[in-house]
Amino acid sequence: MIPSVLPTYARAPLSFVKGEGSWLIEADGRRFLDLGAGIAVNALGHANADLVAALTAQAGELWHTSNLYDIPAQTKLADQLVEATFADTVFFTNSGTEACELAVKMARKYWFDKGQAERVEIITWEGSFHGRSSAGIAAAGSDKMVKGFGPILEGFVHLPFGDVEGTKTAINDKTAAILVEPVQGEGGIRPIENADLQALRMMCDEAGILLIFDEVQCGVGRTAKLFAHEWAGVAPDIMMVAKGIGGGFPLGAVLANEDAASGMVAGTHGSTYGGNPLACAVGSKVMEIVVDPDFLDGVSRRAGLLRQKLEGLVAAHPDVFEFVRGSGLMLGLRCKAVNMDVVNAGYANGVITVPAADNVIRLLPPLNISDEEISEAVTRLDAAATAVEMA
Ligand SMILES: Cc1ncc(COP(=O)(O)O)c(C=O)c1O
Repeated sequence: MIPSVLPTYARAPLSFVKGEGSWLIEADGRRFLDLGAGIAVNALGHANADLVAALTAQAGELWHTSNLYDIPAQTKLADQLVEATFADTVFFTNSGTEACELAVKMARKYWFDKGQAERVEIITWEGSFHGRSSAGIAAAGSDKMVKGFGPILEGFVHLPFGDVEGTKTAINDKTAAILVEPVQGEGGIRPIENADLQALRMMCDEAGILLIFDEVQCGVGRTAKLFAHEWAGVAPDIMMVAKGIGGGFPLGAVLANEDAASGMVAGTHGSTYGGNPLACAVGSKVMEIVVDPDFLDGVSRRAGLLRQKLEGLVAAHPDVFEFVRGSGLMLGLRCKAVNMDVVNAGYANGVITVPAADNVIRLLPPLNISDEEISEAVTRLDAAATAVEMA
């Protein structure tokens, strides 16, 4: 009999009833160090006091009005994002997938309004993930995601990860934009080289096409910059954001410069919930905290500590791990053992990690995890690796 919850998830045998900072707690009291943070969502940990206060204060005033009316909390958050980034304007969504939908629509409308309606193609790199909507799966393009779901949305060109030269050659008079994740998340924590991001920016400028970055997973302080592309010193024209920006409350956004956004006039896009007062009150508080250079310095320092300890872990368990890669607190351990065996051994030893493609386990802890928690987490990963060796 089909379960009451549609069985689309292969869930771990875990169920949590409480979260405290970097810890998740099961009903029987077992405590787990959470290096997954809800897949890079709980950027400030679980039940963060500042976020609880922001949410409950808004909850006592007003939950929802719709986008028929001005939403002060939304304007405040948009102003914060515009102030802190390349963007001139922001549209709020409830998820990364919805942000992808708008990014694609925005790029196509841009060209339509310029009288080049045939420019609809978006070039992406293999291994990417942009969500599970029809545009999201078409953008990623892998068989696993699109097979069985009928005609897929046309207009995506998929090239090998890192194929800068091929990308340049593929640009033609049908190309609207290039869309990449500065650090691929689901694809196995694969950062794009700074030089490659710079080359993408340059070829977009030369061809006059739009550059879209998907920072749903790698954004909002995750790499110790507010947004990952800042490491390369280049800006996109359009950027997708979600996950960390809501700290656990469903919130996403599309940020854009004025030119890229020029086609999106009244009536061209909308959302009932997007930019709802509750979500924006939380997002505003997240931004206030994460944008602080001292906070980002702290992320950088903690990332250095975690990375150093993970290098030690790899050296101590050469049959289990191959290497560490990633940026900031978005780290991947490429496994020699089966990644899911390591993740499961982690559960048994009270530490949560997240599997990814390319036989990687992802470490995406809360950005404010303490030094002691980092040490404890690596001790638990060490025990997990030993268990995998002995199995
Ligand atoms: C890079 C990236 N883009 C888009 C998405 C889709 O976001 P959501 O699951 O919030 O719809 C994800 C989710 O994992 C992601 O990692």
